[in-house]
Amino acid sequence: MLRARIAVFVSGGGTNLQALLDAQSAGKLTAGEIVLVVASNAGAYAVERAKKAGVPAVVCSRKELGSQAAFEAAISETLAEYDIDLIVLAGFMSILSQAFTDRWPERILNVHPSLIPSFCGQGYYGLRVHEAALSRGVKVTGATVHFVNEIPDGGRILLQKAVAIEDGDTPETLQRRVMEQAEWLLLPQAVQTVSESIVKEKEYETT
Ligand code: GAR
Repeated sequence: MLRARIAVFVSGGGTNLQALLDAQSAGKLTAGEIVLVVASNAGAYAVERAKKAGVPAVVCSRKELGSQAAFEAAISETLAEYDIDLIVLAGFMSILSQAFTDRWPERILNVHPSLIPSFCGQGYYGLRVHEAALSRGVKVTGATVHFVNEIPDGGRILLQKAVAIEDGDTPETLQRRVMEQAEWLLLPQAVQTVSESIVKEKEYETT
């Protein structure tokens, strides 16, 4: 059976990568297959998660490669080598230029830990998003899975889920609740949906 070939891009702990790997083991990612992990730094714990799951992990560091062009060229070469159909940004903290995103129209997904358009765009990533939500005093936050285009957190929204803020929340407790109640559920679901449409395209191409 045809499946979408998926690369997951990571920079940190990789709990969203883990949610995808678990969904795959549980038979919930039938239309896609995680065949590659791209890490922006060698020290990311996500790299260990990839190794444990037997998925090859390649490190492409913007800092080490010296320029955005060299960084993106290295990524593109790796993606071609693994014949990738779909890129999933799962806590990937490096910027991708418009030259790169233009080559992958509606083929890059991102998970963001807020209800876009709140607390998103430049400077809003990781814990900072939850710090901003708490200091604004909102009562509801959540997560969004969206396609990636040239605008930071600006691509078409696929899925969103609201999560309540509780009295006494810290950025850390809120981050954990948003992950558990929203991110880890939405991301595998969105990846399955987009993979299904990629499979349909592949089937059409091979007939
Ligand atoms: C997640 O909360 C993800 O939504 C966020 O970083 C965390 C990564 O955790 N991404 C962004 O803020 C992107 N703008 P993980 O490495 O454990 O998946």
